[in-house]
Amino acid sequence: MDRGEVVLRRAGDADALAAANVWLRSFATALPTVRCSHTDDEIRSWFSTVLVPRHETWVAIAANTVVGVMVLKEAELKQLYIDPPWRGRGLGDQFMGVAKQRQPDGLTLWTFQVNTSAQRFYQRHGFTAVERTDGRHNDEHEPDVRLVWQPRARLS
Ligand SMILES: CC(C)(COP(=O)(O)OP(=O)(O)OC[C@H]1O[C@@H](n2cnc3c(N)ncnc32)[C@H](O)[C@@H]1OP(=O)(O)O)[C@@H](O)C(=O)NCCC(=O)NCCS
Repeated sequence: MDRGEVVLRRAGDADALAAANVWLRSFATALPTVRCSHTDDEIRSWFSTVLVPRHETWVAIAANTVVGVMVLKEAELKQLYIDPPWRGRGLGDQFMGVAKQRQPDGLTLWTFQVNTSAQRFYQRHGFTAVERTDGRHNDEHEPDVRLVWQPRARLS
């Protein structure tokens, strides 16, 4: 596969379907033991009616194709999903650079406890675990962990 230049940019309405399909492929591959509580079409609709128009959604584009997606809701990193063939090639680092630039005072996110490679990724980027739940509050009822990045934490 051609690994030419990758550009990160804000998503527009026309990117919503492709971004949703990246999310679906990435979720299914990375989290085979987690049963997504929504149908594929519900996920596509969520991208086109909520994530892209109402939140700050970024896409990675390679050869005119969406290969990664990140959604910020102010300081919350809501979604970060790379198309499986593009994992491990620095796109996660690039998205994280954008997220930290957009929210220099700090970021927070939830990830599933079973997703150990994502947790290592976030730890490499300075996140620390601050809260764990048994999953009763998330749609999948899957144990999760809240991670935060607080670059300017100061002792008072
Ligand atoms: C987490 C993610 C965004 C990081 O982006 P990335 O560009 O792949 O970042 P990295 O190269 O640092 O890799 C992160 C982890 O994925 C692993 N990984 C990389 N390429 C992989 C591949 N092709 N297949 C499986 N795992 C892979 C890495 O080994 C690393 O885990 P490690 O710490 O155990 O080595 C990306 O791997 C991804 O989309 N994962 C699936 C979706 C997901 O879990 N999103 C986070 C939800 S909160």
